[in-house]
Amino acid sequence: MTDRAGDSVPSMPQHVAVIMDGNGRWARARGLERIEGHWAGYKTLKRIVYAADDLGIRYLTVYGFSSENWRRPQNEVSGLMRLMYAAMRAELEDLIENGIRVRVIGRLHQLPDELSDIFYEAMRSTEAYTRMTFTLAINYGGRAEIVDAVRAIARDIADGRISADDVDEASVAARLYAPEMPDPDLLIRTAGEMRLSNYLLWQSAYSEIWVTPTYWPDFTPELLLQAVQDYGKRTRRFGAVVE
Ligand code: FPP
Repeated sequence: MTDRAGDSVPSMPQHVAVIMDGNGRWARARGLERIEGHWAGYKTLKRIVYAADDLGIRYLTVYGFSSENWRRPQNEVSGLMRLMYAAMRAELEDLIENGIRVRVIGRLHQLPDELSDIFYEAMRSTEAYTRMTFTLAINYGGRAEIVDAVRAIARDIADGRISADDVDEASVAARLYAPEMPDPDLLIRTAGEMRLSNYLLWQSAYSEIWVTPTYWPDFTPELLLQAVQDYGKRTRRFGAVVE
C-alpha cells in the first residue's frame, strides 16, 4: 500500500481513533494554565488531521470532550467550550477546501446552542465529502452511546417495528451515533495511560491499542506514522487462531 506521496506504507489502518490525553500535564510542566494545554492540543490536532489525510487514513476519530469531563472545574469546562467553538469557526473553511468530512458524535443537545449549531453547520457543509472523515467525539460516552442505541431498539419494539428475538449485534451497531463508520483498526492513546476511558466501547472490541508516553500537545506526524507502522506489524486475529 502507498500513501498519497507514493511511499510504501504497510497495511494501513482504515480508521484511527485517538484519545488526546496529557494537555493538563503538558501545561503544568510549563507553569501554564490547563486551558493553555488544551489550546496547544488544538494546534497539534490540526497538524494530525492533515497528516492522517496525507497518510491515506480514511477515518480519524478523536475524543474532544467526554461525558465525564463536565466534572472538571467550571472555568476549564467553559474554556473548553469556547475553544471548541473558536476552533470549529477557524478551521471549517480549510476543512471544506481539503474535502474533509466532519462528523460530531455524542449528546450534542446538551451542549451550549452556539456550539452545537456550529457542529451541525460543519456536518451539513461537509456531508458530501468522501476523502477523509474526521469525527469529533464531544459530550461523548461509550456507555451512553450504547444506552441510546438500546433506547432506540426499545422504542422500535414498543411500536411493533421489530420483535425482541430479532435483536442482534447488527441491530445495536445500526443504532450507534455513526452507524456507517467502520470500527477503529487502531486506537492511539497519548500520555501513557493504558485504559479506554469510556471511548468507543462497542466499536473498539477488536481495535489494536498503541500507547505513547508523549503528551498530546507534543504528539507529531512522525509519531502517527510510527503508530501506523507498528500497527502494520501486528497480526489481527478477531478471536480466531492464526497459524
Ligand atoms: C485530555 O487532557 C484532553 C481533553 C479532555 C481535551 C481535548 C481537547 C483538545 C485537544 C482540544 C481540541 C479541540 C477540539 C476542536 C476538539 P487532560 O486535560 O485530561 O490532561 P491531563 O490528563 O494531563 O490532565
